[in-house]
Order: sequence, then structure tokens, then C-alpha cells
Amino acid sequence: MTHEKKATLLITNIGQLITMEGPAPRIGSQLKDIGLIENAGIAVSGDEILAVGTSDEIEGRADLAESCKVIDADRAVVSPGLIDPHTHPVFSRTREEEFEMRLQGKSYMEIAESGGGIRSSVRDLRTTDKSVLMEKTKQRLDRMLSYGVTTIEAKSGYGLSVESEIKQLEVIRDLNAVHQIDLIPTFLGAHEFPDEYRDRHDEYINIINNEMIPIVVENKLAEFSDIFTEEGVYTIEESRAVQTVAKKAGLKLKFHADELESVGGGELAAELGAISADHLVYISDNGIKAMASAGTIAVLLPGTTFSLAGKQYAPARKMIESGVAIALSTDCNPGSSYSESLPFMASLSALQMKMTAAEAFSAITVNAACAIDRAGQLGQLKPGLPADIVIWDMNDYRELPYHYAVNLVRKVIKQGKVVIGRTP
Ligand code: NIG
Ligand code: FE
Repeated sequence: MTHEKKATLLITNIGQLITMEGPAPRIGSQLKDIGLIENAGIAVSGDEILAVGTSDEIEGRADLAESCKVIDADRAVVSPGLIDPHTHPVFSRTREEEFEMRLQGKSYMEIAESGGGIRSSVRDLRTTDKSVLMEKTKQRLDRMLSYGVTTIEAKSGYGLSVESEIKQLEVIRDLNAVHQIDLIPTFLGAHEFPDEYRDRHDEYINIINNEMIPIVVENKLAEFSDIFTEEGVYTIEESRAVQTVAKKAGLKLKFHADELESVGGGELAAELGAISADHLVYISDNGIKAMASAGTIAVLLPGTTFSLAGKQYAPARKMIESGVAIALSTDCNPGSSYSESLPFMASLSALQMKMTAAEAFSAITVNAACAIDRAGQLGQLKPGLPADIVIWDMNDYRELPYHYAVNLVRKVIKQGKVVIGRTP
């Protein structure tokens, strides 16, 4: 085999290399296959992967540049950079008072109905300067990167007016240009009904459909359209109306579905050909069937049940057995799940949803890539793909869910450059 490209970085002496080589997405028993190579190495050329293989295969190659940097992984686990496929990172004020109210017995929806929740974040965001939002969001991205996350999906949804939704999407665009994390933008104008349209749903939906979506599409501010389909927020009919317009305008679809009650959100996502339906704590059996046959990815957000101090988690095992592709995400937001740690979601997936470490790794890499419509492009380590790599402070990949609530990241490499940890 001849290779024109020269290696610029070699990672050697890897104890366990998780390549995620194989199907994207992984369904059923495929989730257990993490493409593991023991005693492995990786060669990187510029910003992409040049080769993966056993140490002998990689170190035996003669086509390495003389100036090639070498990282000795010292028997560590190495994986693809993690992908967080559902986040709401653009906000200023946090809502710790609501966290305490919930601990005293108020539900998320009771707080929302009395004017708190998403609407309180909306009031805050509308009066916050873009520069402040940039700075606060950047801090969250820095923290995500430190946990091994190299790509995220990021939503608007705290503006709920033409001007403020655009402001949020511009923050996402501008941070994507300067931050090491790649941000994939989602328009979530239908996250709630803003205070001024509480009793005029149709008028607000008209603004979304006839003003916001055209501007978002024309200015290429988002790739996806999302909606909070839930009892007391957007009904199934309202959701179908918004998402049909979004799809016609060229946006791909995501849903917040069946998070607090079973309303048929999973079924609607499948019917409209959504890329993903997210939450799904209360998904029906029909919804599971519909998602499996439509190939809609289920993005599970166990941090939300955890932080709402709920008892019920999404039925991950049932979905896996039914052939639904599962991804995991933080849902990082100031209300229902304030965490930037995707590895902690792997711990919750194990303890609360009985997912294995291998299944969790698939769900935060290759399947998370599929949930942002990057199947075969991200979340795997194979020649030609971006060199987004995590070197972990662990020798067995099963430590990730087991050694919980600590940061096990040793180094993060984004497009071939060491961005966390010392450069060799
Ligand atoms: O995914 N459910 C709707 N949206 C977010 C919560 C947003 C908020 O409370 O600020 C979620 O849980
Ligand atoms: Fe969310």
C-alpha cells in the first residue's frame, strides 16, 4: 500500500483502542461492538486520521514524516472524541432557585406554569448582550472539551422572538468559528410559547413559520429544527404544523418527545422522518416500533431525570431490543439538566438504564454522530475522518461508567492538535 500523506502525529502504546469501526448507526447487539484493538497505534496526518491498527502495523510503517510528534499512551484507553448531540448551552442566568423548589416538592411543569422555567430564561436572554452570552457559553464549551467532547449540537430556544432567536443562533455560529469544539446549530423557536403569546398560540406559530424559519434558512443559521412536543407546551397538531414547514424549508428535524408524558412525540418524529427524537422517557410501544422502522435515532438524556429527581428513565433496554438506535447526551441547560459532562451520562446510562460500558461508548460516539446526521463522518477512528481523539486516564474502557463523576480525560486531540493536556 502506498500513502502519499505523511504522518504528523503518532499515538503509540495504546492499551485499548476504541475505533468504532463498523455500522453507523449501531442497533441491537451491534451496540456492544466498539471496534476494539488491543496493543494499538494511530497515525494522524494534519487534521485527519491516516491509519489505525496494532502497534506493529503502525510503527512498522516507513512513511512517517521525520518531524512526526509521538505520544506514548502508556497502555491507556483511546477513543474517538465524544459527541454531545443535544445541548442548550446559550444562556446567561442560571436557575438554582428552581432546583431548590423542586427539592421541596414543586414539579418542573408547576414551575413552568407559574412563569419560571424556560420563560424565565427567555426574559433573561432577551436583555443580555451578545458579548455576555458569548463569554458564558464559551466557558461551558471549555468545560465540555475538558470532558472529551469535540462536537456538539447546540440549540436556540431561549429567545422566542425573531431578534432574540437570531441572536442566540449567531452566538452559536460565532463560537463555532473560534472554539475548538464544532457546533452544529438547531433552531428551537418552538421551545415554549413566550409570555406575550400565552393565549395566542396560532399567532406565535405564524411568526415561527413565516418569519423565523425563512430568516434562519436564508442566513444558514441552523441545520435542524426542534420543538418541545409535550402536554402543556406544543401539541401534536401544533408540532406537526411547525415541523412540516421547517422540513419544506430545508431544515432537518429533531423533537423533544415524550419527556414528561406520553403524547405520541416519538410516533410523530418517525412519521415526519426526523433524524432524532430525544428524551423518550414515556415513549409508547407504538412509538418505539415507529422509530425503529423509520430509523429515527433515540437520543436519551438521563441527566434530565436525574436532575429533576425523577424516578423513571427512558426504556433503553426495550428500545435496544426493538432495534432503535440509541445515543446519549447531556441536554446541558439551566433548567432540567445543568451538566457539561457526557461521561457522567454514561454512568447514569449504566446505573439507571442498564446499558453496558460498550453500549454507552457507542451511544456517545458513532450513534451520537448519526443523531446529528454525521453518519460515517464523525464518531469513528478510521482513515480520512477528522482526527478527534481522546486519550483517557484508564486502562480498561469499562472504567468510564464505573469510575463516576470524575474527569478521566488525559488528553483531547481536535483535528490533529492537542487541545487538552500537554503537547508532546
Ligand atoms: O430538554 N424540555 C425542554 N427543554 C429542555 C429544558 C429547558 C429548560 O428548562 O430551560 C430539556 O429538558
Ligand atoms: Fe433539551
